[in-house]
Formats: sequence, C-alpha cells, structure tokens
Amino acid sequence: MQATINTTVDTSRYAKCIETSKRIRWEIERDVIRGRRFDFAKPFLPDGLSLVSQLEFLNEPEQRLLSQIQGRTYANIFGLVERFIGAKVLEVSREHWLGDQTALEALVRFTDEELKHQEMFRRLDEMMSEDMPAGYTAVAEPNAVASVVLSKSTWAVLGLTCHIELFTQLHYRSSIDHEQHIDALWKDVFLFHWREESQHAVLDEMEWKREDAKLTSEQRDRAVDELIELVGAVDGILQAQAQADAHYFLSVCGRPFSAEQAAHIGDTVLKAYRWQYILSGVQDERFAAIIGELVSEAQGARIAQALAPIAQAAAPAPPAIAA
Ligand SMILES: [Fe+2]
Ligand SMILES: [Fe+2]
Repeated sequence: MQATINTTVDTSRYAKCIETSKRIRWEIERDVIRGRRFDFAKPFLPDGLSLVSQLEFLNEPEQRLLSQIQGRTYANIFGLVERFIGAKVLEVSREHWLGDQTALEALVRFTDEELKHQEMFRRLDEMMSEDMPAGYTAVAEPNAVASVVLSKSTWAVLGLTCHIELFTQLHYRSSIDHEQHIDALWKDVFLFHWREESQHAVLDEMEWKREDAKLTSEQRDRAVDELIELVGAVDGILQAQAQADAHYFLSVCGRPFSAEQAAHIGDTVLKAYRWQYILSGVQDERFAAIIGELVSEAQGARIAQALAPIAQAAAPAPPAIAA
C-alpha cells in the first residue's frame, strides 16, 4: 500500500514499448480484415464473454444472434473508450515534450495506435450493419462520453484506462479457448487488438504511477472518488446499452418470448457487459497489484464497496480489489 514510488522516467521501459510496437505493427485492411466479411453462421464473441449459453431457453441460432449483437456493441464500446483514451494520452505526453524523447515517442505511437483502433472498430460496425437487420442502436456518443470522462482528474482517467487495456488481454484469452468456434475475423480482431494493447497497459501503469507521485493524499482521495464515479458512468452506459440490445434482439429474433424470458435476456446481457467491461478488469491480477500500490486500505475498501452491487449481479466471482 502506497509504497514509495520512483518518479524518474525509466527510458528503457518506454524504449521496449517502442521496439515491440514497431515489430508488431499491423494495418486494418492488410492484416486484420484481409477482404473478409463476417460469417453470420458463427458466434462473434466467445461464450465466456457473451454468457449466451446461460439462456438455456434460446436455441443455438438465437444464442448465436445474441452473441453477434454483443459483437457489434463490443466494436462500439471500444470505439467509445478509445476516444477519451487517445485524448488523455496525448495530453499526458505534454509532460515529456521537452523531456525524455523516448517516453514522448512511446506515447505518440500509443495515441496513433488508438486512432487506428477507433477506425478499425468503426469499419467493423459498418460491416456488421450491412448484414444485420435495421434497428440496432449505440446508446452513447464517443465525444459526449469523452467530455465527461476528461473532466475528471488525470489519476482517475489513467486508472480507468489501465483497467480497460488490461482486460483486453483476458478477452483475447477467451477468444482462443479451444471450445469456442467464433468467427475467424472476430478472432483476429481480438488477437491484433490485444497485441497493441499490451504495450498500452505498460505505458498506462508508468504514467499512472508518475501522476500518482505528484498528488497530495487529499488529491488522491478525491481522485479515488472520481474513479468510482467513472466506473459508475461506465455502468450507466452498459445498463442502457444492454436494454437497447435486448430490445433489438427481441424485435429481430422472429418469435415471441414470455415477459419473464424477455427480462432474463435483458439481465443476462447486462451481466455479460458488466463482466466484459468492468469486472474482468477489476479481477485482473496485474490491475489489482498496480492499484493496490497506489491506494490506501480504506480507499481500496471504498472501491470494493462501490463495485459490490455491480459484482453481485455479474459473473463469475466477486472482485478482489480491497486490501
Ligand atoms: Fe485499442
Ligand atoms: Fe489501448
């Protein structure tokens, strides 16, 4: 808890990120899409993320359709969070403008990659929209969300960002589960995205700790509250999106469901979204270790308490963030 943190820029760690970033650099069309279309005979998200198999009253094509709707939301949610992540990293890079040029280059590459990811997810959404029935809605607008997020302290935004970039690793691991037979293009999206996100997570950790070292304990205490507010805002978006997606599913599925079944579909989609975008990151061991170094026991307990209602309703286990 609150160990003394060295604020000196570790040039070699930034240099390693640049080296890896150059080696694994990929292009949207050339490496990821490669002229392919989505195969609607396959699920888009692995079951470990979509949780559709928990809806036993849905037949296989129906479970697949619900997974595909969640795939479209995946593209939209990442397009959304990457808007504020790119802007914040560009802002943080200012502190290296006239300082360590290696750190600056690493953050510029990070921002460039995040712009590319947004373009990729926009492109994927367009492709899906061409082959899916009309009526899908993305409830949140990237710039509106970014304005709210960026009004919070840098500590809180970097904390949320670090959490997001770490959970892409778990998403990739779920996608290569041998039991899963998801669409080949989606498999590549998980793979290529995760490759660049791994470097981003390393940079987030360094910048978050650097920012943390500048704060007084009062400022950090306020920043912890802001991080809690941001997670609450993410949850608000997920609740609205889950409702919209369940509604879309019911309208295009082609058969009626009882009120109880319809409610169960909505609840399961929300549970899946909370797992995908909040709890899979909170439970990440590396994230728990990083935030555990920065916050006090009482602050960790406050975060855990705020997450409890979200975790209660979601799979598969309660979060372990408190000291
Ligand atoms: Fe990304
Ligand atoms: Fe990223």
